[in-house]
Amino acid sequence: MSTKKHILELFESNRGQTISGQNIAEQLNISRNAVWKAIKELEKDGYKIEAATNKGYCFSQENDILSLEGILPFLIEQEQSEKIIVYDSLDSTNRTAKEMAIGGALHGTVIIADSQTSGRGRYGRDFFSPPKTGIYLSFILRPNHIEFETPTLITAFTATAVCEAIEDVTGKKPQIKWVNDIYLEGKKICGILTEAVTDFESKTTQWAVVGIGINFSIQKQEFPEQISQTATSIYSNGKVNSTRNQLAAEIINNILYKAGPLTSKEIVDKYKSRLMMLGSDILVNENKETYKAIALDVDKIARLIVRKESGEVRTLEAGEISIRK
Ligand code: BTN
Repeated sequence: MSTKKHILELFESNRGQTISGQNIAEQLNISRNAVWKAIKELEKDGYKIEAATNKGYCFSQENDILSLEGILPFLIEQEQSEKIIVYDSLDSTNRTAKEMAIGGALHGTVIIADSQTSGRGRYGRDFFSPPKTGIYLSFILRPNHIEFETPTLITAFTATAVCEAIEDVTGKKPQIKWVNDIYLEGKKICGILTEAVTDFESKTTQWAVVGIGINFSIQKQEFPEQISQTATSIYSNGKVNSTRNQLAAEIINNILYKAGPLTSKEIVDKYKSRLMMLGSDILVNENKETYKAIALDVDKIARLIVRKESGEVRTLEAGEISIRK
């Protein structure tokens, strides 16, 4: 690891505290000049570091640049950190993760990017992924480590894990719009795209890539016109009181380290407790057909049960719903 990364790790674990140059030099067994040089490099990367004469350096609490070093202090399993790869920009973290899964990457590999140039949503849509204000991450999951009968359960588990992380880190209480959208105050703050490869013969999942895109602090005027009425961000008012690194770490903790062997009933119960629109009049968009229905319930693998106006009850595995005005 480079001196710069060592110093960043030290700073990220001591945010807001003043550490003397001498102390840093001793801890890392390097010269004070090497400390100074690395600090200048960090400043060039955009970090705010205040230098107080005869006291030392203070890494500002405001710094919010995604990095492995920034995620590490919040992880409950730091030994696994070599499986977390943070990029400045990728075309799509799901694309990179899928290539790595095909190449044999291990369960628990996490690809994170500060921005995406071709972020992808469901149904081939674009996912708005600007720099500095979002978190775009993809997990490689393999079934011998995590028992999931169907992709709907993987998505349900992920949506709940992300909501719990957001609530723990920010104090805000997100909800889920079936199947995979996370909402805050009636607007979307996060989308999840699960892509799985199933063995044709045995019908078992070989691997799944679960991609999560979070609007962290994007401001209203920054969203493209076509989503400006339906999308928002966790900190849409600009008053940010956590960091993207902290939230990314909590999501990793919830998905990889905290979960334990959850039964499908436990997954669905938690998922259902955050689900919007149950009991409501909705519009269903299924296979290019749109119809009116009532959202009745979710079944034991998180499929949505709806009753059409004709009285027919249908169980949906995929599709999109919206509230009927
Ligand atoms: C949706 O809302 O339709 C799903 C959006 C999923 C976006 C995430 S961002 C990280 C990962 N990489 C992608 O290209 N897409 C997913």
